[in-house]
Amino acid sequence: MGETAKISVAGKDVENAVMSGTVGPDVIDIRKLYAQTGMFTYDPGFTSTASCDSAITYIDGDEGVLLHRGYPIGQLAEKSSFMEVCYLLLNGELPSKDELGTFSHTISRHTMLHEQLANFYSGFRRDAHPMAIMCGVVGALSAFYADSADVTDPYQRMIASHRLIAKMPTIAAMAYKYSIGQPFMHPKNDLSYTGNFLRMTFGVPAEEYVVDPVIEKAMDRIFILHADHEQNASTSTVRLAGSSGANPFACIAAGIACLWGPAHGGANEAALNMLHEIGTPDKIPEYIARAKDKNDPFRLMGFGHRVYKNYDPRATVMQQTVREVFKAMNVSDPVFDTALKLEEIALSDPYFIEKKLFPNVDFYSGIILSAIGFPTTMFTALFALARTVGWVAQWNEMISDPQQKIGRPRQLYTGATERDYVPVEKR
Ligand code: ACO
Repeated sequence: MGETAKISVAGKDVENAVMSGTVGPDVIDIRKLYAQTGMFTYDPGFTSTASCDSAITYIDGDEGVLLHRGYPIGQLAEKSSFMEVCYLLLNGELPSKDELGTFSHTISRHTMLHEQLANFYSGFRRDAHPMAIMCGVVGALSAFYADSADVTDPYQRMIASHRLIAKMPTIAAMAYKYSIGQPFMHPKNDLSYTGNFLRMTFGVPAEEYVVDPVIEKAMDRIFILHADHEQNASTSTVRLAGSSGANPFACIAAGIACLWGPAHGGANEAALNMLHEIGTPDKIPEYIARAKDKNDPFRLMGFGHRVYKNYDPRATVMQQTVREVFKAMNVSDPVFDTALKLEEIALSDPYFIEKKLFPNVDFYSGIILSAIGFPTTMFTALFALARTVGWVAQWNEMISDPQQKIGRPRQLYTGATERDYVPVEKR
């Protein structure tokens, strides 16, 4: 027997196996703990709990390391493409040239939406948040693709995965077009995944849209940086929803709903709004003081992370991408200068040093997305677009795991104990 962990409770010693992965902290297998002791473990927020085993993404938060299938995010962002990363996340290995060609072709053949879905958009108010539209439309896909609903069939799961990856850019671009009252642009299959998305977002039928290679490259890199992030809140939501055998499109809609929150994917929108509110570097100390004030709910958006207690490696690439795009476009933005100054001041402040609060991926992403021309409300929708591959890869991994069970946490009950019902006239 390998290493075990001894737990002493109520005068009783129980031994539980210690399990090791390929790298990272070992885990104590507590699956039998309730049967052994009659006790549950308590870990709201899952700060010490591994909810599954996974071979997709590894994060070392103390060292600021992020690996997809073993490959460092910096190398993927610099040398790979989003299509290649999608293949890698779904299949476990980098594709050969032919495999990549076939995969990209397959994805490009699934980009169109059923025309009835286009009608669905007109039920929304024009000022609807794109994430509200995304939740609705992606959930509605389940009503259109009943042929990929048998989650026990790996072939159908793969088709559903391809459909989701392919249709997300179309769905997100249509959410944007709807909000500004412009006609929807149909996908164009001779463009790259990212070029096609840019055209569907910024093109109009009246003119030929020429994809700017600098923007295309930057956008592709932004997608890579958001592709997966192991068991974060939205991915865990997708896994939990999927653990009941639910329809994959509905599960991804659940992930989108979770991502929307400002503590998660919504932070990119909140971070840029905050930088605009700060305005000029002279106002930074005031906002730093507010972030440190226990009586003020204000937090520095785009700062801090549950797992990274070091610089988020995605923020490093994002900051560098902002510089590259600004240089290529020959533009500057005072908000970027404010962000750099804010980072410098925060990283030298004892509060942020002691709590290990560093910029996360969302700190710089809003600046670049705004420079490309996206309104802030689209930022989280772009995150959802890119994260879809991570969600479907994790969902696939979970369903194909023979040990998979419905996710069903327990609780520490603190409510009333049993009591008799009192009729209303006696209350
Ligand atoms: N500004 C100021 N103080 C902060 C910040 C912040 N951004 N983040 C954490 N803290 C402080 C907390 O007040 C807390 O202080 P305390 O120990 O004195 O009570 C301590 O640091 C730990 O914070 P927790 O909220 O307990 O840490 P947790 O791991 O639960 O939260 C989170 C992580 C939600 C990301 C948090 O840092 C935060 O709210 N950041 C701002 C929002 C944000 O940028 N979210 C994006 C995350 S990345 C992503 O989803 C892609």
